[in-house]
Amino acid sequence: MEADYPIGIFDSGLGGLTVLKELEARLPAERLIYLGDTARVPYGTKSPETVCRYAVEASAFLANAGVKMIVVACNTASAVALETLRERFPLPVVGVLEPGSRFAVERSRSGRIGVIGTEGTVRSDAYSRTIRSLMPEAYVVSAACPLFVPLAEEGWANHPVAHLAAADYLRPLQSEEIDTLVLGCTHYPLLKDTLGAVLGPDVVLVDSAQATASIVAELLEGRGLLRTGEPCEPRFFVTDIPTRFQRVGSDFLGRPLGEIRQVDLDTLYG
Ligand code: DGL
Repeated sequence: MEADYPIGIFDSGLGGLTVLKELEARLPAERLIYLGDTARVPYGTKSPETVCRYAVEASAFLANAGVKMIVVACNTASAVALETLRERFPLPVVGVLEPGSRFAVERSRSGRIGVIGTEGTVRSDAYSRTIRSLMPEAYVVSAACPLFVPLAEEGWANHPVAHLAAADYLRPLQSEEIDTLVLGCTHYPLLKDTLGAVLGPDVVLVDSAQATASIVAELLEGRGLLRTGEPCEPRFFVTDIPTRFQRVGSDFLGRPLGEIRQVDLDTLYG
């Protein structure tokens, strides 16, 4: 039965585990397959063409594994490759950008919305376009925060260095008087406390990972594709040796990851 098929999730590396974590919490009965393209991470500094090609290869791997839906956990890939993936694969493809934008519009009182992400995500302007398509009067201001990814992976999300970086990156957004901030990168949910401390309680933080889990649940329910039954462990695949993914990924997920298999997308789909 199709409802029994797994959900496929991919990211440039281990950051997308924040999305997997929210999916597990929201949909515990679903079977999950996660692919981290660790050999080619980061996507955030690469050209849209390259990210698009990587995203097609990652999706081909998941489609081949027999998934019922593809979740693009990577914000950068969601920003530049979603349309191509929807054209190429006859499956529902959900990115993190539309859910994050929808939540931001629902939560913002003033329509002054900040977005933070990788260089690639900010350059694409995809969040601003999506937010304005939902709320034409919205005023969107974006900032790339490249240091947040290594800080989160280093376990320094609450370190004074992260606080200093956040204060600097967010200053231009604060002077625009945003009342909502979209965390437009897989790693940023780990920095919630630091971002909240810098911005204060009046700015709502929108976690795209949580928003995505809600939208996935809605979509599966709408199509009669929700799985029932016992929870099972996710299956993990990476494109480089799994050592670092195993170590840092367990910190992200808050538990050991179990078996992780290495695959070569270049040979399989390149
Ligand atoms: N996963 C990426 C994103 O959400 C961050 C890491 C990278 O640059 O690949 O945009």
